[in-house]
Amino acid sequence: MDLQAIHDHVIQLARRAGATIMDFYDRPFKEMTKSNAADIVTPADKATETVIVSDLLAHYPDHHVVGEEGGGQGAEVHTAEYFWYVDPIDGTNNFANKIPHFSTSIALADKDLNPLLGVIYDPTRDELFSAIKGDGAWVDGEAMRVSTTTDLSQSIVVSGFPYIKWTSEDNNLAEWSRFVVRVRGARRTGSAALDAAYVACGRFEGYWERHINSWDIAAGALLVQEAGGTVTNYAGETPPQYLDQREILMSNGHIHQDMVKLLTHSSM
Ligand code: IPD
Ligand code: CA
Ligand code: CA
Repeated sequence: MDLQAIHDHVIQLARRAGATIMDFYDRPFKEMTKSNAADIVTPADKATETVIVSDLLAHYPDHHVVGEEGGGQGAEVHTAEYFWYVDPIDGTNNFANKIPHFSTSIALADKDLNPLLGVIYDPTRDELFSAIKGDGAWVDGEAMRVSTTTDLSQSIVVSGFPYIKWTSEDNNLAEWSRFVVRVRGARRTGSAALDAAYVACGRFEGYWERHINSWDIAAGALLVQEAGGTVTNYAGETPPQYLDQREILMSNGHIHQDMVKLLTHSSM
């Protein structure tokens, strides 16, 4: 499999997806709710997913393609060797409120959900992040590395709150409170894919989130790994299929154990 050729193709596809998103940005549209009023989808999400998924199905008919809005398509799960994870707009709430911080995220993984290739495109800044397993990670074609910060007190970290936050106590408030009093800054940007990309290029030192899906994080996880960072669950482990287990911790590596402690020891 020529990952470099697929990478170059997916970059063009992500740029096309970004153009589709921006076509909708200044137009009025009707949003629809999914699991609750905080979890929305717009015509832009659906149109952009169609652009990406139809292209992937045409080019890779023996792969399985998972899109956030449309579910699984293409080759059957039990026969496919390769899987695509597509989030057409990561940060839909930002997009719908005209906050210019959202992205398209596309990842290719093997059948054990080990990412092989990841592309994240921010169409508002025309900034493109990508990685190929074993080959490196780039922002706009330039090699990128995680930050060298070793101290939590000099770190800016980022997280997200799940759509079940209104009804579940597992809503990240406890973890958030523990971090806020230990770090230089804590952020909630609203795009998990860009949160991961920003860890990979050294803008954030760490990112954690629970109730997250593989289409949100598969590309970002590879970006962080290939940029020299660490990706695990909250316990600091990488069990099989951990990218599908709805809990993720990414960091520059240097502050990883401190983050694990804050996530697992509520009294720290
Ligand atoms: C969401 C964003 C957000 C994260 C949520 C995701 P969506 O994706 O990545 O930052 O906190 O967990 O679901 O719904 O905008 O694609
Ligand atoms: Ca998402
Ligand atoms: Ca989305």
